[in-house]
Amino acid sequence: MTVSKAPIDRGRFSNKTVFIMAAIGSAVGLGNIWRFPYVAYEGGGGAFILPYLIALLVAGIPLLLLDYAVGHSQRGSAPLSFARLSRKLEFIGWWQVSICVVIAVYYAAILAWSSQYIGFSFTQAWGDDPEAFFFGEFLRAADNTITLDFVPAVLIPMVIIWLVTIVVMALGVQRGIGATAVIFIPVLLVAFGVLVVQALTLPGAIDGLQTLFAPNWAALADPAVWASAFGQIFFSLSVGFGIMITYASYVGRKIDMTGSAFVVGFANSGFELLAGIGVFSALGFLAQASGAAVADVVAGGIGLAFVAFPAIISQAPFGALLGVLFFTSLVLAGFTSLVSILEVVISAVRDKLELGRLRATLIVTVPLATMSILLFSTTSGILVLDIADYFINRFGILLAAFVAMLAVGWGVRRVPAFAEHMSRFGSIRLGRWWVVLIMVITPVLLLLMLVLEMITAISTPYEGYPTWMLGIFGWGVAGAALAAGVLLSIPKWKATTPLEAPEHDEEVVR
Ligand code: ALA
Repeated sequence: MTVSKAPIDRGRFSNKTVFIMAAIGSAVGLGNIWRFPYVAYEGGGGAFILPYLIALLVAGIPLLLLDYAVGHSQRGSAPLSFARLSRKLEFIGWWQVSICVVIAVYYAAILAWSSQYIGFSFTQAWGDDPEAFFFGEFLRAADNTITLDFVPAVLIPMVIIWLVTIVVMALGVQRGIGATAVIFIPVLLVAFGVLVVQALTLPGAIDGLQTLFAPNWAALADPAVWASAFGQIFFSLSVGFGIMITYASYVGRKIDMTGSAFVVGFANSGFELLAGIGVFSALGFLAQASGAAVADVVAGGIGLAFVAFPAIISQAPFGALLGVLFFTSLVLAGFTSLVSILEVVISAVRDKLELGRLRATLIVTVPLATMSILLFSTTSGILVLDIADYFINRFGILLAAFVAMLAVGWGVRRVPAFAEHMSRFGSIRLGRWWVVLIMVITPVLLLLMLVLEMITAISTPYEGYPTWMLGIFGWGVAGAALAAGVLLSIPKWKATTPLEAPEHDEEVVR
């Protein structure tokens, strides 16, 4: 029996610029704007530069290069790429897909809140107490209980965010993801650039910057600071959870992948630094306006965006402008990251089931959107989000990255071959330095960090949440992602899906 084979259109970025924009779009996200400034401040301010740069150069960029090498050489989604290296490694790809499912469902919720807050910036709906407003009136957050009580103010923007996302995903790699990044990233840069300038002109901005950059060298003796530098880089650079494997599989053979990795790595960190400057200038203003020390007003994540920033917006000259710029930046940066997270799932389902773009998009996004809306537009959404975010970052992304490095380095021993592949058209040669990093140094550092994180998570219940909640939404979710990865790797590939990497793009057939 002959199997009829038609060329597959997996989709492709039309050129290097679009690819780099999409990769920067993925990397620059909530992690840069609301996580980095706080992590840097907590981790020793000016002194944090050291662990941060080491994490970027020793783990972030080398792993980005590994992700690129896997996707670019194997030309498949994360599961297909790993299956092509060895069927035994396919579970890593599905594990990454499962991690993306978890992140996507809560990431969309934060975008929905941010989009509501663009409007609130004009009306200052939060009144005198932004914290009480956010948790009370806006989210109607339940106290350590799980409910199915919907909050319309969250439900409606969530439905809109998901509808727009589905349209972009259905449009495909170039017309959807690529085109969005090409438009959103420059707009984001301008919006955030204006925000930083406005924040710098606020009274007290200098105090904020001094607080951020004052080096606390003693912090470097704390292993937790190093762990947070690595954690920050991984999430922020979108490495280790399938995104960059997937994006690299959509890039032509002759594209300079090594140069692109350095551009993306430094662009992401540059944006992070800019975010630190903008956020701490604004916090400096808030401290001065409220007669407090900067250290007393600093916050990260949800507290920064939805409590501290509204307070700043209420008191700053042209506060509404500052608010619109800040929340629009969160939405733009977050959206291009959300599409990249979803693409990991869609491309995996496409490859495995040999589906067309539209069908795969609907099969993936409709259940995910439903799950996301059910979980996060209810009054218990925020608790689940906070716990899942903490655990999936540590015992999802970091652990999966560690396993992937060991598997590729020592299991199938492909790192030297990847160095050669990447160097062929790359402007920067991947020599022995990269091989040693990926095979020895980075995994050892990651292991140390994982052990540390594990000890912390076991000895101190995260944020004091009840054990059952941490068990289900923390350990449970992280464990389920791994279990799902293993289970999803069991079904066989269709006979028409080649399990060897195609030599040339045109030879990809099914
Ligand atoms: N890299 C994305 C972020 O920083 C996921 O939010």
